[in-house]
Amino acid sequence: MAIVSAPKLLLAPMVELSHRALRELIAGFGGCERYYTEMVSASGYLHGNRFDQWFTDTAPKPENTAVQFFDSRADAIIDACKKLYDERAANGIPLGGVDLNFGCSAPFIERSGGGVYWMKDPQKAASLVAKLKKLFPSLVLSAKIRLGYEESLESLGNFCIGLEEAGLDYLVVHPRLKHEKFRRKGRWHYVARLAELIKIPLIGNGDIRSYQDYKKAMDNYKPSGIMIGREAARQPWLFSLINAKEKDAEFRIHVNIMESGIKMLELIKKCLPEEFYLSRAKRFFFYFCDNLSFSHHLRFAIQNSASMDQIESLWLSYFKELPADISRVFQ
Ligand SMILES: Cc1cc2nc3c(=O)[nH]c(=O)nc-3n(C[C@H](O)[C@H](O)[C@H](O)COP(=O)(O)O)c2cc1C
Repeated sequence: MAIVSAPKLLLAPMVELSHRALRELIAGFGGCERYYTEMVSASGYLHGNRFDQWFTDTAPKPENTAVQFFDSRADAIIDACKKLYDERAANGIPLGGVDLNFGCSAPFIERSGGGVYWMKDPQKAASLVAKLKKLFPSLVLSAKIRLGYEESLESLGNFCIGLEEAGLDYLVVHPRLKHEKFRRKGRWHYVARLAELIKIPLIGNGDIRSYQDYKKAMDNYKPSGIMIGREAARQPWLFSLINAKEKDAEFRIHVNIMESGIKMLELIKKCLPEEFYLSRAKRFFFYFCDNLSFSHHLRFAIQNSASMDQIESLWLSYFKELPADISRVFQ
């Protein structure tokens, strides 16, 4: 089943961030059209990792959440899809889709033949897509890519056309090369070129921090939609702000920053296993502290905290000293 209309706003897959607690927080502000899990090792999932239940949890919007798999082996990804498909059917939980990670450049993934390494072998990638579509015709299948190893519109275009012809439903492009870190801005003009080359929906991703960035990217590069990663942890309300500003450019949102932080701590404890509490809270506040006027000291203290209670108490103490930071208006 091809995706009927292209999703306009998507939450990016992010290790230790794109979990149920963040999706619940975002949904509480109004949500986005499509969510992702963090990347899940297909081989690990097949071997029964004890935390799989949480890695593949797609609540609160299972019908709109894709599970992202990474692996070097096509057969591992196919078997993982089968296992996921069967599990979901047995439990009556809709499977919102599967995303193929063809873009991760983390050295331990890339060197093992996973993530962006797939872009070296367009035929292997297209053949995986074709096999998955044959086995699971109704599955919404997407892939997330980078620009590859070097700038070449021709090889990038061929890679994407191969996926399209194999039956991919939509494609997400994070327009950086394999070795490029976040310091350099994404090469968004490639999104525009690819949008002209392929017919399936093309989603652009990278460096969107505001409604104004969103609008500029949509107007200048004409993707079907936009995926947001880090800024969704800084501003979990950003998707609803964008949606509202599309209808009324003067719209502003008043956010209680202090309460939102406390809400996230509660959600982490409600939705995730205890072993995840501290790492996930630290990862979230690393970004969320950017909403404060003087974030440096607090961010550092949270990163060195030994318990969730300590994080909560540090967070609340900050606002006792700086009550002006409790609420903020975003537009
Ligand atoms: C902490 C973190 C973890 C990430 N984990 C993943 C991942 O699991 N899978 C993936 O495809 N990309 C991952 N990415 C890349 C993001 O999905 C996204 O492509 C990138 O952050 C650029 O988008 P942004 O500028 O909106 O953050 C990760 C990025 C960050 C910052």
